[in-house]
Amino acid sequence: MSRSLGLPPEVVAYLASANRAEHPAQVRCRAETETLGGVARMQISAEQGAFLQFLLRMLNARRVVEVGVFTGYSALTMALTLRAQHGGDARLLACDVSEEWTSKARSYWREAGVEDVIDLKVRPAIETLEARIAAGEAGAYDFAFIDADKTSYAAYYEACLTLLRPGGVMAFDNVLWSGAVADPAKTDADTVALRGVAEKAKADARVDCAITGIGDGVLLCLKR
Ligand SMILES: C[S@@+](CC[C@H](N)C(=O)[O-])C[C@H]1O[C@@H](n2cnc3c(N)ncnc32)[C@H](O)[C@@H]1O
Repeated sequence: MSRSLGLPPEVVAYLASANRAEHPAQVRCRAETETLGGVARMQISAEQGAFLQFLLRMLNARRVVEVGVFTGYSALTMALTLRAQHGGDARLLACDVSEEWTSKARSYWREAGVEDVIDLKVRPAIETLEARIAAGEAGAYDFAFIDADKTSYAAYYEACLTLLRPGGVMAFDNVLWSGAVADPAKTDADTVALRGVAEKAKADARVDCAITGIGDGVLLCLKR
């Protein structure tokens, strides 16, 4: 599990206990993902999940797109809220390239009874997003969570902005990149891409935006 940047373990534990309890499938997803070793850091934190659920409540979101599924925790977390709000009308389009990781995700979604909410597409996310735009789904989504390959964030920004309705929100994870974005000496492709998406949003008259220190940094963009 990723930890909110700079927070000591006891504060992370406090956050987990101060938020409402997770669904048993979320607990199992987190525990089993932890056994995968270092890759477990890719999973969002529990408090970040609670934050995503709160955003979906604020937006009364019914239709969501996720870019970057991994073992399914963030999709599961959002699907639970979508189903609670909209029952059988809730939809989550989930994009990932990994059969290995997303096959684990399906078992948690099944346990929580949200498998029918989630439409998983295993292919490069940009292809799925462009296919949905071509199919006439521009403006049809309430929320987008982007948590995949960082060098594609600018492309995901444009595609997800097209898919969102006015008033819809997109959230980009890892925009602080463990603090690397603040170090001018860091010029690797991921760090440069993450600085780039923050600059893009700041200068973009199509959105209002806020960059936060939740998790590893979450950039929020509201479509005007
Ligand atoms: C940080 S993990 C997602 C974590 C997930 N949101 C969670 O909370 O558990 C990033 C995921 O992006 C996927 N990914 C990487 N490149 C991709 C691409 N081009 N298209 C779609 N998914 C991609 C990886 O397979 C990986 O599962």
